[in-house]
Amino acid sequence: MRAVHILLSLATVSLAAPANYFDGVYEFSEELADFYGKVSMYINGAKQSTSPSATCDSSKIALPSYASEWHPDQDGVSPMYVALGRGTQNYSCADSTSQSKPVLVGAVANLYNATCLAADFPDLVHLLPDIAYKITLPTDNRAAFPPANLGLMGHHYFVGSVPTFNLDTTPTKQFGIARTKKEDSIKAPANAVKGEHGAVAWLYLSTIENTVGDYKRVYRVDTASGNAPSTCEGLPAAFEIQYSANYYFFGK
Ligand SMILES: *[C@@H]1O[C@H](CO)[C@@H](O)[C@H](O)[C@H]1NC(C)=O
Ligand SMILES: *[C@@H]1O[C@H](CO)[C@@H](O)[C@H](O)[C@H]1NC(C)=O
Repeated sequence: MRAVHILLSLATVSLAAPANYFDGVYEFSEELADFYGKVSMYINGAKQSTSPSATCDSSKIALPSYASEWHPDQDGVSPMYVALGRGTQNYSCADSTSQSKPVLVGAVANLYNATCLAADFPDLVHLLPDIAYKITLPTDNRAAFPPANLGLMGHHYFVGSVPTFNLDTTPTKQFGIARTKKEDSIKAPANAVKGEHGAVAWLYLSTIENTVGDYKRVYRVDTASGNAPSTCEGLPAAFEIQYSANYYFFGK
């Protein structure tokens, strides 16, 4: 497919998104400006190139350089899919005093297929969560997601303490289930979009038993928001913080 078409649809779809998708759009106009700046940069580049094409070659997918210490490329696994995740980090508080700290109890997120974008327009993909964390999820749980009109790829949730990525969405889209455990984390970079309390850490997860499919590793990167306040002062027993992140799936 011609790259210009994809980019123009990115631009028009996002601009045509109903206003109610955007919660407090004026608070993050800088992120939108960054995003559209990159879109138009790519559009100009694609127009100038003699054979503009977007090949969606997943072997070209790479983690952002900030996560280069995880070097999956040297470990015999290959990139499979990239998902834009949008949902909540859920926390609990033992009481509502400043003596207790919020504890993470899980996350719930929709996963949208950003694989081709990650292969063809990596700079754009890294900026998506910065915009997405403020965009209300479509009420139809199967609908595509602005600003990039990405199709639903799966759901992320916890089963007990197991971060789970269920990529079976319809009877014909059965991509398996990655069940994972945490191997490592790095603090979100200083320029991450923080929301009210900061961006959640970047994570390296490996798959565990009962994973369905060839998934070996899942990386949570490009995080925006999601952190809890530092203490439980004035907070209820359970609460949620909106977040977005990119999830990179690597496997055999
Ligand atoms: C987290 O919040 C979601 C969204 O409201 C809720 O449906 C879910 O039950 C909560 N999950 C956990 C693990 O606390
Ligand atoms: C994601 O999108 C690509 C390109 O359309 C497709 O080949 C792939 O199967 C999709 N992955 C999942 C898990 O839906």
